[in-house]
Amino acid sequence: MVAEVLAALRTAPDGRYVDGTIGGGGHAAAILAASSPTGWLYGCDRDGAAVDAAKANLAEFARRLEVRQGNYADLADWVPPGSCDGVLLDLGVSSPQLDEAERGFSFQREGPLDMRMDCRQPLTAARLVNEASAEALAKIFWELGGERDARRFARAITREREHRQFETTRQLAELIERLQPRRGRTTHPATKVFQALRMAVNDEIGSLERGLAGALKILKPGGRLAVITFHSVEDRRVKDFGRARARDYAFNGGMDVPELREPRAPELRWVQRKAIRPGAAELAANPRSRSAQMRVMEKCGNG
Ligand SMILES: C[S@@+](CC[C@H](N)C(=O)[O-])C[C@H]1O[C@@H](n2cnc3c(N)ncnc32)[C@H](O)[C@@H]1O
Repeated sequence: MVAEVLAALRTAPDGRYVDGTIGGGGHAAAILAASSPTGWLYGCDRDGAAVDAAKANLAEFARRLEVRQGNYADLADWVPPGSCDGVLLDLGVSSPQLDEAERGFSFQREGPLDMRMDCRQPLTAARLVNEASAEALAKIFWELGGERDARRFARAITREREHRQFETTRQLAELIERLQPRRGRTTHPATKVFQALRMAVNDEIGSLERGLAGALKILKPGGRLAVITFHSVEDRRVKDFGRARARDYAFNGGMDVPELREPRAPELRWVQRKAIRPGAAELAANPRSRSAQMRVMEKCGNG
């Protein structure tokens, strides 16, 4: 969605932008090219390998770029407040992460059950699967993966690990395959379990909530925030954040009672009501983009 991102951020020659999930630097290169000759980009990624790849791929822009390894949730700690014209968050995993078996993200490739985006953190998927209670695992599979068989899978995992600890991706995928044979379904039965574990290991929802609030702080009034999500759990958080910050009133105690509303200035506005989806050409070139959708918000003048 490169053209859509550039349009959403209104990328212009002397603008200052942030790519909070820089990956291999694809979107960043387009933003830097569109904001030349003086535009600036702050970039970050939790994944050290992505940061190295982005620095190498963006070498021609090195004088207009600062890239750090870190969580986009912490952007407001190092990017000056009120300084940016646009912030991009392109959530989820990257193709290199999925394609490299040793990162442990893919149920199709034999590798360690790892799934850490930042390999410096202690929590791995293996540790979660081997140590969390059946209730905790079921909650993760249901809340982060929408897996209907969450409890059955979680109980089977805790029984299995009494005999043999989980160490590899295929060991977990094969257990799920035995519990839920594929019978002609196109999606693999372990898809939701792997997605949910990845989101839990990397605290993706916690990062998203802190990251959205931080992005609003570093934007200038009139600056834009574009968020690309890949599934409904993330998209709901983005919609809830946008809705809450676009309200022109506050309410206390968690209940919105019209008589008790207190007027206040909204912090942002939606740039358009509906999410932007990839076009046919992008879908053909990159089938992994099929569930992507982008939402765009603009910080209000008084925010
Ligand atoms: C879909 S890829 C981004 C691809 C990138 N837009 C490009 O053009 O190459 C998602 C990236 O976000 C990173 N990521 C996910 N959650 C993150 C977080 N909380 N903070 C920083 N980076 C994160 C992942 O490590 C991955 O590299």
